[in-house]
Amino acid sequence: MRTQQQSDNCLKELREIISGLGADTVAISEEVLKMPEFRSWSACSFPEGHHYGDGGLIQHTMEVVSLCVINGYRSNAFGNKEVNQKVLVLAALFHDIGKIYDYFCHFYSNGTTEWRPALHKRTIHHISRSAIFWSKAVERTGLCKDIEEDVLHCILSHHGQREWGSPVAPHSREAWILHLCDGLSARMSDCDRVDLIKIKQ
Ligand SMILES: [Fe+2]
Ligand SMILES: [Fe+2]
Repeated sequence: MRTQQQSDNCLKELREIISGLGADTVAISEEVLKMPEFRSWSACSFPEGHHYGDGGLIQHTMEVVSLCVINGYRSNAFGNKEVNQKVLVLAALFHDIGKIYDYFCHFYSNGTTEWRPALHKRTIHHISRSAIFWSKAVERTGLCKDIEEDVLHCILSHHGQREWGSPVAPHSREAWILHLCDGLSARMSDCDRVDLIKIKQ
């Protein structure tokens, strides 16, 4: 079980990373960072899934943002096209925010809780909702219009292929880095807790 302190630490770390990316990035990031649900929500609706439980969403998001920053800088040395760090970090920050519609917390009378899937997961899904959330943030703040579609592409393609829930496959460097770092964070969480081969048997 994660603590409130761990979520607060993740929030602090995210704000530190984002602070170096310019005033417009800092301001639009608050659309996610200021939400109480972002700090408390689970990133999954079944216990064997990655980052299940209270505070899982902010923990996973912090890991993905951190991995994207490191890999984004390192990837600048590959080929002749630079990675846009603003696009990459904003896409990583917003990529799973739609999960606050996909899951809800059920409270039992004995005081225990359980995260469950909501109808939204089946009818809309967090990828579409995260994309809507990002576009509304751009519209509401009037910021980052020049990179709106680049970030949108990263969010929409972050599961990698249609069979895994993405309407489009990654096409840009930023989209590929987000997809791969998303998977890395998820697999590191899995291997700490479960053996995927045993689940599939
Ligand atoms: Fe996702
Ligand atoms: Fe994710």
